[in-house]
Amino acid sequence: MPESRELKTFSEEAVNHLQSTSALVPSSRYLARAMLGPLPLEAARTVVEFGPGTGAITRALLDLLPAEATLIAFEINPRFCAYLEETFADPRLVVVPAGAERVKEELAARGLRQVEAAVSSLGLTLMSPQQREAILGGLVEFLAPEAVFTQYQYLHGLLAFLQLTDGRLERFTAQGLLRRYFSRISRELVWRNLPPAFVFSCRR
Ligand SMILES: C[S@@+](CC[C@H](N)C(=O)[O-])C[C@H]1O[C@@H](n2cnc3c(N)ncnc32)[C@H](O)[C@@H]1O
Repeated sequence: MPESRELKTFSEEAVNHLQSTSALVPSSRYLARAMLGPLPLEAARTVVEFGPGTGAITRALLDLLPAEATLIAFEINPRFCAYLEETFADPRLVVVPAGAERVKEELAARGLRQVEAAVSSLGLTLMSPQQREAILGGLVEFLAPEAVFTQYQYLHGLLAFLQLTDGRLERFTAQGLLRRYFSRISRELVWRNLPPAFVFSCRR
């Protein structure tokens, strides 16, 4: 269970910004474990996180990262950014108070050329095609050949339909989107999370 300060911060922001927060409570440790298990972290130098929130996955990631690695975490919610800065006094963590859409510019501005692992908690379903392209297209340009990217999608997200410009409805699945950017994708269902979620592990 997350500690009460974390739960309070997360849930208050979820109520105020449900669309961007996409969940009512932080991810469980089981989901965090499934998100991190496939990543090649032992020798990682640069790792990217999209949407750290109050750090449910960030915490587990910092536990596994080598001492000389850098974790670049993109978060749009200013309260979550402040929470992360206060909670994790870890020089490896760089909180970028900007949307994941800026991944390309922000990595380039820091002189970073290669990312060995990336994790995303973003609710891709409710994003525009332009946002998804900026985020995923921007990230893949930096991924090392053996890099792994993980993304979760809540189980109920499989029921999502998007309205096309001509009014027709199209089913949206994270896996369908990820296939445009990655050639190898595996999937695991994590029941022990609220709500249960699929974890997609993606390789170029
Ligand atoms: C479902 S929450 C996940 C939080 C945390 N990683 C966890 O698993 O408990 C999604 C997070 O993504 C952030 N977010 C939403 N859109 C974003 C964007 N475009 N760029 C960066 N962060 C974003 C939200 O503010 C929120 O913190």
